[in-house]
Amino acid sequence: GKVVVLFGGKSAEREVSLKSGSMVLAALKRQGVDAHAFDPAEQSLVELAQGNFDRAVISLHGRFGEDGTIQGALEYLGIPYTGSGVMASAVAMDKIMTKAVWSAEGLATPDHVRLQPGFDEAAVINRLGLPLIVKPAQEGSTLGLTKVKSAADLKAAFELAYRYDPNVLAEKFVKGQELTVPLMGEGEQAIALPVIRIQAPDGNYDYHNKYVGNDTQYFCPSGLDPAFEREVQALCLKAYRSLGCAGWGRADVLVDESGKPWLLEMNTSPGMTDHSLVPMSARASGIEYDDLVMRIAASAAL
Ligand code: DAL
Ligand code: MG
Repeated sequence: GKVVVLFGGKSAEREVSLKSGSMVLAALKRQGVDAHAFDPAEQSLVELAQGNFDRAVISLHGRFGEDGTIQGALEYLGIPYTGSGVMASAVAMDKIMTKAVWSAEGLATPDHVRLQPGFDEAAVINRLGLPLIVKPAQEGSTLGLTKVKSAADLKAAFELAYRYDPNVLAEKFVKGQELTVPLMGEGEQAIALPVIRIQAPDGNYDYHNKYVGNDTQYFCPSGLDPAFEREVQALCLKAYRSLGCAGWGRADVLVDESGKPWLLEMNTSPGMTDHSLVPMSARASGIEYDDLVMRIAASAAL
C-alpha cells in the first residue's frame, strides 16, 4: 500500500526530524515501499486526508508530532500510524505528567518541583540541592535544559526553559551513568532491545553532543553486568507499559553512584538519524536500519 512518512513539523526539534524522516523515507524506498514525504509544517491536513494513504510512519519529534496532536488527527482521518496512541503520546511528551504516572506505579524517577513564575528559589534549592536540572516539561533533545550549579543561575535557567514551554520543572540532578533502552511492541508483548551506555564529554549529553559533535561515546553492548542490564530493561518495560505506549519508544535512564537506576523520560518518537540510539541498539541485536524501519512501519495501527 501507499505509505506516508511525516517529518519536519514545527517543533524546536524540526532539524532533527528532517534528518530522521529523510533517512526513514529512503529506507522504505530502498525496500520497495511506495513511500511519500509529508511535512505538516508546510502541507495541509487536507492533503493528508486526500492522499489515499494506507498507513503513516511518524518521524516527527516534539510538539505537534510526538505529543498526541498529530496522532489525534490521524485517528480522526482513519489512517493507521506508527508508535503510541493519543493518550500515551500526550503523557510521555510531558515530563511532569510522566513522573506522576511513574511515581504512582512506584517506579523510581528523580524528585522534581514544578516551577511557575515567581517561584520560591530557596525552597526549590532546599528540596533538590545543587546542582539541579531545569527543563521545559514538553521538549526533546535537551533543548531549553540547564544544569544549575549555583543559586544565582536558577532564575535565568527558568526563563530559558519557559521560552520553550510555560510548563517548567526543576529536577534533582543524578550524578552517574547515562543509559538508554529502546522498546518495541505493546503491553505484555513488549520487548526491550540492548541497553546503550552513553559517555558524553564532561558528562554533558546536550544537543551538541547528541547531534553535532563526534566526541560522545556509545557502548552497545553496554559492558554492564548482564544481570543489571536485565534489571534496567525490566524497569524500562514497566515504565513503557505504565504509560500505555505502543509500537516503539525509548526510555532514558540515569544510574546513580550507588548503582540505582532512575527513569528520566520516555520518548515515543525517538530519533532515527545517523547519530541516533534506537538504530544503534537494533544493530547490536542484528536488526539493520532498513529492517528496523520496516518493522516500525509494519506496526502501524489505529
Ligand atoms: N528527542 C529525540 C529525537 C530523541 O529522543 O531521539
Ligand atoms: Mg526526549
